[in-house]
Amino acid sequence: MRIGIIGTGMVGQTLGSKLVSLGHQVTLGSRSKDNEKALAWAAQAGPDAHCGTFAEAAAFGEAVLNATGGTVALAALRAAGAEHLDGKLLIDVSNPLVFDPAGQVSLDPVNTDSVGERIQREFPGARVVKALNTINCELMADPGRLTGEHNLFIAGNDAAAKAETVALLGEFGWPAEWILDLGDITAARATEMMMPFWLRMMRHFGNAEFNYSFRRPA
Ligand SMILES: NC(=O)c1ccc[n+]([C@@H]2O[C@H](COP(=O)([O-])OP(=O)(O)OC[C@H]3O[C@@H](n4cnc5c(N)ncnc54)[C@H](OP(=O)(O)O)[C@@H]3O)[C@@H](O)[C@H]2O)c1
Repeated sequence: MRIGIIGTGMVGQTLGSKLVSLGHQVTLGSRSKDNEKALAWAAQAGPDAHCGTFAEAAAFGEAVLNATGGTVALAALRAAGAEHLDGKLLIDVSNPLVFDPAGQVSLDPVNTDSVGERIQREFPGARVVKALNTINCELMADPGRLTGEHNLFIAGNDAAAKAETVALLGEFGWPAEWILDLGDITAARATEMMMPFWLRMMRHFGNAEFNYSFRRPA
């Protein structure tokens, strides 16, 4: 499958490399054509790895993944172009984190809105699925690094898009039953609001090698 990734950071590169290793073709998108990180990634990730602008990545993808910061995601996707997102699965991995000078985090938007919803509202032709934003990117791409069952969350208005997301994550090694469907895209509020807690847990453990796992009665 051809996948366009909007974002050249750790998440874009890690997921891009994983997708290429699984046999997919990936274009990593940036604000500029000559982004050094994207060029370096494409040079080492193999013949199925390409890079270009946000618009080139989105046009390339049969599915598109947003891996930009939540506070700039709409700007990045506007640059990608609504015409390149129409009808496509758009997996949104972003978190709207805002750090103050003291290092305290807040979210923008929060409570009554979310980045996932904003993206779906602004790009009604895209089939947006909020996913993967509650876990470190190394674990997203390799869930077997942790023992036992641990969970991901998905949210979106389009049932087929959520099924396609579960299938793609299955290729990464995520059993379908570990992926919890929280409902429509408004559930992105809940998963984005997990991030202040997640960041505190990272401080508690001293690293990002952990994930959520839920216990229920037998
Ligand atoms: N790190 C993790 O393990 C992890 C896990 C779960 C979710 N997330 C979320 O995933 C997202 C990506 O994180 P990341 O650390 O990989 O990357 P990042 O540093 O948050 O974002 C990198 C991308 O943002 C683009 N960008 C920066 N400013 C912009 C602007 N003003 N307008 C448009 N685009 C702009 C950059 O463009 P250029 O390419 O042109 O520089 C780059 O492609 C974040 O929302 C993060 O919260 C991260």
